[in-house]
Amino acid sequence: MNVVTTVIKSRHSVRKYKTDPVDENAIKDAVECARHAPTAMNLQPWLFGVIQDKKVLETIAQLTDHGTFITDAPLCFAVFGEKQAKYYLEDCCAATENLIIALQAHGIGSCWVAGDKKAYAEPVRKLLNVPDEYTLVSLVPAGIPADISIMKKKDLKFVEFKESFKRDSS
Ligand SMILES: Cc1cc2nc3c(=O)[nH]c(=O)nc-3n(C[C@H](O)[C@H](O)[C@H](O)COP(=O)(O)O)c2cc1C
Repeated sequence: MNVVTTVIKSRHSVRKYKTDPVDENAIKDAVECARHAPTAMNLQPWLFGVIQDKKVLETIAQLTDHGTFITDAPLCFAVFGEKQAKYYLEDCCAATENLIIALQAHGIGSCWVAGDKKAYAEPVRKLLNVPDEYTLVSLVPAGIPADISIMKKKDLKFVEFKESFKRDSS
């Protein structure tokens, strides 16, 4: 058993949270882990917002299509990428995953909510006063889990191939 892989495999998207506040050290550590993600040419083309203001959380929730539960989260992270950096999307996705796994390691549930390609990316950026050079990549509401639904994952044998891909005829 390995602590890191166990944390990764025990993570599930959490969309219902207890009202308890989230430990500030855990929040800080999660952002620390996000900023340690690999980036193309080590550009680190990002900004990480930590939003705890109830009114702002409510407004973000209303702007999204599938993130209305943000309104009941004690906090929400917002990951922004610097558009000029060629690989900002990959970089910010790596950071988002680090953030989510770090939260899980601290016993905090979260859910990746799409930002990139969404019509609300611009309104969210403006709401949070983020400069125009950046664009929203992801929103990550988080809190102590109140309910967890476990999604089935494709079996390893259907998604892994060794050396060269062969279609299974059976
Ligand atoms: C890029 C991306 C965008 C997502 N957007 C949303 C979203 O807008 N709303 C939501 O409830 N979940 C969203 N999710 C979470 C997925 O629905 C979830 O990861 C998937 O159902 C698998 O469940 P699991 O995270 O519990 O393994 C998103 C996940 C990713 C990676």
